[in-house]
Amino acid sequence: MSTNIASATVAAPATQPAAALEARALVRRFKGRSGAWLTAVDHVNLHLAPGETLGLVGESGCGKSTLAKALLQLPPPDEGEVLLGGRKLSGLSGGALREARQGLQMVFQDPVSSLNPRRRVIDIVSEPLRIWAARMALDEAMILRKAQAVLGEVGFDPEAIGARRPHELSGGQCQRVAIARALMLEPRVLVLDEPVSALDVSVQAQILNLLMDLRERRQLSMLFVSHDLAVIRNICDRVAVMYLGRIVEVGRSQEIFSAPRHPYTRALLDSMLVPGKPLPEQEVITGDLPSLHAPPSGCHFRTRCRQAQARCAEQVPPLVQGPEGQTACACFFPLSQAGHAQAAATGDQGSAATRPI
Ligand SMILES: Nc1ncnc2c1ncn2[C@@H]1O[C@H](COP(=O)(O)OP(=O)(O)OP(=O)(O)O)[C@@H](O)[C@H]1O
Ligand code: SF4
Ligand SMILES: [Mg+2]
Repeated sequence: MSTNIASATVAAPATQPAAALEARALVRRFKGRSGAWLTAVDHVNLHLAPGETLGLVGESGCGKSTLAKALLQLPPPDEGEVLLGGRKLSGLSGGALREARQGLQMVFQDPVSSLNPRRRVIDIVSEPLRIWAARMALDEAMILRKAQAVLGEVGFDPEAIGARRPHELSGGQCQRVAIARALMLEPRVLVLDEPVSALDVSVQAQILNLLMDLRERRQLSMLFVSHDLAVIRNICDRVAVMYLGRIVEVGRSQEIFSAPRHPYTRALLDSMLVPGKPLPEQEVITGDLPSLHAPPSGCHFRTRCRQAQARCAEQVPPLVQGPEGQTACACFFPLSQAGHAQAAATGDQGSAATRPI
């Protein structure tokens, strides 16, 4: 079981607006079939500003969905705190948690299986509000009016769609129903776990445009989980890169994509398929993702990093804010703008520009 807290640093922008959603040193462990524990989320900190869209990227199995669910306390993390609009969700349960969590909603990857196949669209969308009907003094007509308004907001004719069931809808339509359901409690923050990955490319664009419209109209903050860097680049203000349970780099999209400092981020970008760009001649990231049951010591990325040195096996590199305009990066030898490893001894508590954040 990993107990290293060196990666427990605050992944926030330089000027810290009040967080819409904040995670502090979140840890989520699972017990495998052999009885051994793995740490899927390892002391992760996140800071999502009001109205901001933060992308979360990383290879399959690195812990993105586990982190997303831990934010919603589904189930609560083993360690750490989550604050929604400054209010702690950690430690709450039952009705108190449901009430505090109203402002935080999640949309899942598979739109079809996330909807109850036996229920009509209007009932699926109304359901979250029904739970609160008594407390909010809402009658059935009010709930239906609200559900119809939200269905209209996601682009449906409510009269035409309300009586249909999920199996009668396309994947894109199901995802719009799932988004409508998530909007019923007027959330301030949406956590979207691969919301377009299961959809055709043309439908992906429709859903992304809808999400961006909703973000503007409702001033929503979004955590957008995706393995698709092109999508992330299009819609996210900032990006956090995850590797084996830890955030290894975070910064504004512009810097992440134009001047990544972590070798893993660089490798992810190099493996991105871009129309017109030749396919990479050799494997960009060598080897498979190591098992979370036995992650490499020190820097988890060291077994696949071309510039790993002895120190990388001995210590966990802390996430350190780079100089003005650069990303925060958890690497002892971050890349320069030209893509070369720097001798900068990150984590040595140097100048204010390079201190751990
Ligand atoms: N309920 C569980 N029990 C045991 N291990 C789990 C459980 N859920 C997730 N894991 C493990 O935690 C790790 C992270 O899984 P997670 O689904 O969060 O990854 P991910 O980054 O979302 O991957 P993908 O991109 O494929 O969705 C994986 O090793 C996974 O096998
Ligand atoms: S700390 Fe070392 S192994 Fe890890 S990414 Fe940096 S150079 Fe590579
Ligand atoms: Mg996932």
